[in-house]
Amino acid sequence: MKRKDILGIKDLSRSELNELLSTAGVMRDMIDRSERSNALRGKNVTTLFYENSTRTRNSFELAAKNLGATTTSISVAVSSVQKGETLVDTGKTLDAIGTDVIIIRHSVAGSAQLLASTVRAHVINAGDGMSEHPSQALLDGLTAIRHFGSLADKKIVIVGDIKHSRVARSDVILFNMLGAKVTVCAPYTLLPEGMDCLGCEVETDFDRAIADANIVIPLRIQRERMIGGFLSTQEEYHSYYGVTQERLAHCADDYIVMHPGPINREAEISGEVADGEHSMILEQVQNGVAVRMAMLQLLTECQ
Ligand code: CP
Repeated sequence: MKRKDILGIKDLSRSELNELLSTAGVMRDMIDRSERSNALRGKNVTTLFYENSTRTRNSFELAAKNLGATTTSISVAVSSVQKGETLVDTGKTLDAIGTDVIIIRHSVAGSAQLLASTVRAHVINAGDGMSEHPSQALLDGLTAIRHFGSLADKKIVIVGDIKHSRVARSDVILFNMLGAKVTVCAPYTLLPEGMDCLGCEVETDFDRAIADANIVIPLRIQRERMIGGFLSTQEEYHSYYGVTQERLAHCADDYIVMHPGPINREAEISGEVADGEHSMILEQVQNGVAVRMAMLQLLTECQ
């Protein structure tokens, strides 16, 4: 792979995507054998998160350590950002300190791009506003491929807060590249304009959308990004768009349920489904470490 940064799935070629997923598969086998490598020995990976995270931040840090790197974590709430330091100046400071890779999460779309254009270090986008979340889409792709083998013509339904979801955008682009048929489903208030331009079907009736699906991906309602009333009540939302055992009866026999997390039980997904035998939620988390190892290794190999 010959690129300095990974900012979005939309930037990746098919061969880069294949290389990332096949390397992630190798990393997953390594993790399963409790092996580590020294591929990143002597390098430093810094996480710079302006938004909360449990999965992404910790799995990037673990991935870096599994490859022999040192890690540094900037907690924005107790950093010089609180004294007015800009993103660009923070990036220049990290460059001067000598970090090799910056993993950034930010509430504003385009922040990772801005940082990448400013710093010498490699930059990985760990989620920018409502734009992209490439490592999440890659781990979703790896999880689906490890389960089904090929995704050609598999029906994937992404249901929930599509409007505010960077995961939905990255997932639609990635699953399309892998040959799947993707439908996004939400009430009108949570459907952004132009989703069909990404090459997916758009549906507001979840019972119609879920018929014969192979993969169902509920998304959390992102109240932290909402200004104004997009929804009535959680109960009403759950009754129309919640992923329940009853609704899943209309899927293909071999269906799986994935969720990027964090989940809100009895909102977008019932607890029974989240903990059920078709749920891949914790498998996704495990694959997240492998995918992030692959991203770090392939980026830093390219100097
Ligand atoms: N899926 C995801 O990005 O989770 P975190 O917010 O916990 O990192």
